Amino acid sequence: MSLMREIREFPVDRGAVALWWLGQNGFIFKSHEGTLVGIDLYLTDSCAGLAPDGMDLSRRVPILIPPEELDVDYFVCTHNHQDHTDPETIERLRHKDTQQFVGPHPSCDVFRQKGVEPGRILPIWADHELDLRDTRIRGTFALPTDASDLNHLGYILQFGSAPRIYMTGDTAECELLESARRHQPQLMITCINGGFKNLSHDQAARLAGAIRPKAAIPCHYDMFPDNAADPRQFRAALKLRAPDVRYVQPEHGKPLVYA
Ligand SMILES: [Fe+2]
Repeated sequence: MSLMREIREFPVDRGAVALWWLGQNGFIFKSHEGTLVGIDLYLTDSCAGLAPDGMDLSRRVPILIPPEELDVDYFVCTHNHQDHTDPETIERLRHKDTQQFVGPHPSCDVFRQKGVEPGRILPIWADHELDLRDTRIRGTFALPTDASDLNHLGYILQFGSAPRIYMTGDTAECELLESARRHQPQLMITCINGGFKNLSHDQAARLAGAIRPKAAIPCHYDMFPDNAADPRQFRAALKLRAPDVRYVQPEHGKPLVYA
């Protein structure tokens, strides 16, 4: 069975959320009522062609769902870098007219350029909240990692009555990230790669210590040979910086249920 069909058929208990990691910052979340939210789905190898000479940005994680098969209710992006808002993925979506598209304005521009109807595009910004059926998504502050895009976001995600999730998105270190604490997320999904000015494993662990979720999932270390990190470093850093936060290691394409 295709992964998209498995996700569609996967039952989610009341009070729980299921998530599937597709690599990098790409996740599909499913609520109890069946709402599907895809975030930062990078489903092509388009970054390979962007790499400067001598840098390898070819994808290492297999494409677990081809863009043509992707069928989610909300296609969400955190910012307009190609491993997060991928023009080729968006262009090839077959279900553009049944999904809604959410992101900061530069991502919205890409949605429009790649054929998404303007009425299906919902801009979002830090501290702005959107209700999407039984799901609520709020933009959080994230500090841009370079001048090529100055509109980075993280998200606070609430799926029905499941515990709130904080996704950092790509961000450089900054005290203001700790403002997500006021939403009391129980699960944190964080970049740990340290490259290109993103949070390192140690900075991410320190942030977890300030946010105080119950559990933390590392991401954004697995996709590109020249932007990789070992998640065990994050696990070790959590032990030092945030010993009460449980480390959770997601597996690509496998359901992870959080309640
Ligand atoms: Fe990224």
